[in-house]
Parts: sequence; structure tokens; C-alpha cells
Amino acid sequence: MHQEIDLDKIDINTEPPIEEPARQYYYMAKCREWVREFERKNGRRPTAFTQTFGCQMNARDSEKLQGILEQAGFEEAGDEKADFVLYNTCTVRENANQRVYGRLGYLNTLKKKNPHMLIALCGCMMQEPEVVDKIRKSYRFVDIIFGTHNIFKLAELMDRRLEERKMVVDIWRDTEQIVEELPAQRKFPFKSGVNIMFGCNNFCSYCIVPYVRGRERSRKPEDIIAEIKQLARDGVVEVMLLGQNVNSYGKNLETPVTFAGLLRQVEEIEGIERIRFMTSHPKDLSEELIQVMAGSKKICRHLHLPVQSGSSRILKAMNRRYTKEQYLDLVDRIRAAVPDISLTTDIIVGFPGETEEDFLETMDVVEKVGFDSAFTFIYSRRTGTPAASMEDQVPEEVVKERFDRLLARVQELSARVCARDLHTTQKVLVESLDDHLEGYVTGRLGNNTVVHFPGDASLIGTIVPVYLEESKGFYYMGTAAGV
Ligand code: 5AD
Ligand code: SF4
Repeated sequence: MHQEIDLDKIDINTEPPIEEPARQYYYMAKCREWVREFERKNGRRPTAFTQTFGCQMNARDSEKLQGILEQAGFEEAGDEKADFVLYNTCTVRENANQRVYGRLGYLNTLKKKNPHMLIALCGCMMQEPEVVDKIRKSYRFVDIIFGTHNIFKLAELMDRRLEERKMVVDIWRDTEQIVEELPAQRKFPFKSGVNIMFGCNNFCSYCIVPYVRGRERSRKPEDIIAEIKQLARDGVVEVMLLGQNVNSYGKNLETPVTFAGLLRQVEEIEGIERIRFMTSHPKDLSEELIQVMAGSKKICRHLHLPVQSGSSRILKAMNRRYTKEQYLDLVDRIRAAVPDISLTTDIIVGFPGETEEDFLETMDVVEKVGFDSAFTFIYSRRTGTPAASMEDQVPEEVVKERFDRLLARVQELSARVCARDLHTTQKVLVESLDDHLEGYVTGRLGNNTVVHFPGDASLIGTIVPVYLEESKGFYYMGTAAGV
């Protein structure tokens, strides 16, 4: 949700306000002046391109960044041949970092052709001091570097760069601050992510997120509800509540609220038809949440419940704070209360010290649970995390062989599980025209499975009953059913 503020009414010749978000609206107005000047000189508006790496949190952050750029008057560009290029980076695994460095080389060649081009980097990777050092030394053509805690400051940092004419670096180590009511440009008119909390306190021993996203902070329920009501008024029918660990939502608020309690309030909002959330840490998933899900008409029958490993010994070394048996027991309790639920997960292969036996425990969990899908990752050593200095790092070839075995089995099982709704009629939220088949549209079931069926653009954003004719493993082909 953002304030309806007329930027042209802001006097940019006075001192900037101290308080937020007024300060950022002031800088958006200043950037807009710069945009107009650019337009007068060049006969066109400057263009901006944002590339997002990583998770849903980053995707939502990028919508906020694009909202600021839109307010400032930039025109959206389809690729990096733009006047302003912003990379919102991820660092959860090393290959995410490598991709960014690779792309920076390309940006350098573009900037040589367009010397006025501005390049900005933000997000998780920028919270690592070694990364910022490297960019300062070897990628001197970058103009603005900021992190995860101050994305709301984009306009202010851009203004500083334009005034100072040298690289601007602004990284905060952590923050208590949550700036509300800034603009956001949503990718879809009918569905939206909603941050309910930021940061993570779990310190799983392999994970860099707590270091780059800071300590856990929950937004106040009234702010979240107000935002969702506004989204509903704007035509949004599906919300995805976002947090690294939504199950510990609200614990640190002045008046504590449980995640299940928040869901009950979201359920009441008229116009919202589907509620999703991510991610759930198994150790914090409460009986109350299971009951709320079981009784809800709007909460999607889907839980993303990362298991990471099936070996209790490895789970302990990962600092996950549950055992294999506790995880399986949790799955049983969820399935008893919500029989049609689909479960998805994340699994890491090759954590330090993982033996063949440990790996077989993971395979066993995969067999027993029957996940709808599993995101499988090769363990990536992240500097500064406890696991990075553990002995017994598993040799690459061993990890690769286990990874391939796991992936093959996960795919076999999920093709079977995903077909469970075959020959039934289910509600589909239509998201887009089909990329491959003319005259078809693509949408999702409540459990997130993709469905393609004949239809046209008028269906986008609506929920349609569809008969699921054919299962193709990970998706269905169907036909609209006149129920
Ligand atoms: N190596 C491999 N995978 C990781 N993840 C987090 N950190 C690492 C790492 N160091 C995975 C976890 C998490 C998902 C978002 O990324 O499975 O759930
Ligand atoms: Fe990383 Fe664990 Fe926090 Fe998830 S819960 S972000 S895996 S530390």
C-alpha cells in the first residue's frame, strides 16, 4: 500500500524531511525532476531495467524498487540496454554470486557504449563485505551499491549519485526499521506477495540468510491487514504471505500475535479468495496452524516444508532442531487434519559429514512423504557460516552422484503424486496466456500445480472451474467446466 502523494506538490528546494516515508517521497520528486531534465535534453524518458535473482522475498523487494522507479518517471526497459540497470542479488548459494559477476562483465561493455548509464546493485550479496570490496576494486563502473535493509532508499541514493558523481555505497548491517507505505509496482494485477516479517533468527549452520537479512522483525498485523485490504480493493484475489520463517511470526511484537491468528484475520478480508504463505520451518509449525488450515476456505491446500535432510544426525549438525521422526510425525498430523494437502520441500545434498547412510535416510523421507515437488540443492559452502569450517566436506563426485539419484526419484514420485486430481474438476486461477499453445491459457490450482486449458485473455485474473483431463507429470491439460 502506498500513500497517494502528488510528487509535484513537494518542494524540493527545501531541506529533505527527516522522517520516513516522507523523506523518500521528497527524493522521488527530486529524481523526477532529473528525469524531466533528461527528457528535455534527449527527447525521450530514461529507461530502467531491474533483474531479480533468488527467492520470493527478493521478487517482492524488486516490486518495491520498481515502484520507486515508476514514481520517478522512468520507463521500463525489457533488457539491460537501459539508462538505469538494477540487479537485486541473491547469495544463498555460490552459483548465484557467479551469475552476477558474469553479468557485470556484460554491463561494462554496455556502459562503454552508453557512458550515462547508471548501474546499481542491491540485495543479499551486497551484505557480504568481501563482495563489496571486490566490486569497489574490480568493478569500478558500478554506480550504487546498497543492501537488503535499505531498499526503500533507492531514490535518495540515486540522487546522491547524481550529485556526487562517484560510486555511492550504503550498506546497513542490520535494522529495526520497517518503512511502510512506499509505492510498489506489482508484476500481476490479481496476485501479490505481502511481507509479514523480515530476517531470520534460526542460524541453520549452512545458511547465510541470517547474516545478510538480519534479525527477525514482524510487521504489525494492522499494517499487514490494511495492505491486503487495499490489494483486494485493487483487484487482487490471491496473496502470498512472505517470511523466512512465517511460523514464528509475531513473537517479538509488543502485543504478540501467532501466525495462525494473523491468518484468521486475513481470511476475513472480502475479495481475497486464496491465501498462500512461505516458508514454514517444521520446528515452529503449531497445532493451531494445522487447525486453522483445516477449517479455512481460503488457505491453499499447500505447505512448503523444507526438510533439508532425512538424517537426524545431519539435521542436528545443520541446527534444524527437529529429527527425522519428528518431521514424519508432523507430516502425519498435517495429513490427518488436511488430507488433500500437497507438500513441497527443500533438500540439501552433500552437507559436511554426510555419509551414504545419511543420504539413504533422506531418500527414505522422500519415499515416505511423497512430496508434490522437492527443490534439491547441492550443498554450497558459504563463508562465515559454521558449516563452512566443518571437517569432512563431501567430495564433489560423491555429491553429484547422490544428487542425481535423489533428483531422479523425486521426479518419479512427484509425477505420481501430482496426478492425484486427474479426472476431477478443480478451481484454477488463470495467470496468463499460454506461452506455447495458441488459444490456451495457463493457471494454477490451489495446491500450486500448473494447468493449461483453452481460453482467452479475458479469463486472466479470474478463478475458473476446470476439468483435469490429462496429467503430464508436473502439470495438467484441462477444459473449462461449466459448473
Ligand atoms: N547450500 C545449499 N543449499 C542451501 N540452501 C540454503 N543455504 C544453502 C547452502 N549453503 C537451500 C535450503 C533452503 C533454500 C532456500 O536454499 O534448502 O531451504
Ligand atoms: Fe536459512 Fe534456516 Fe533461516 Fe531458512 S530458517 S533462512 S534455511 S537460517
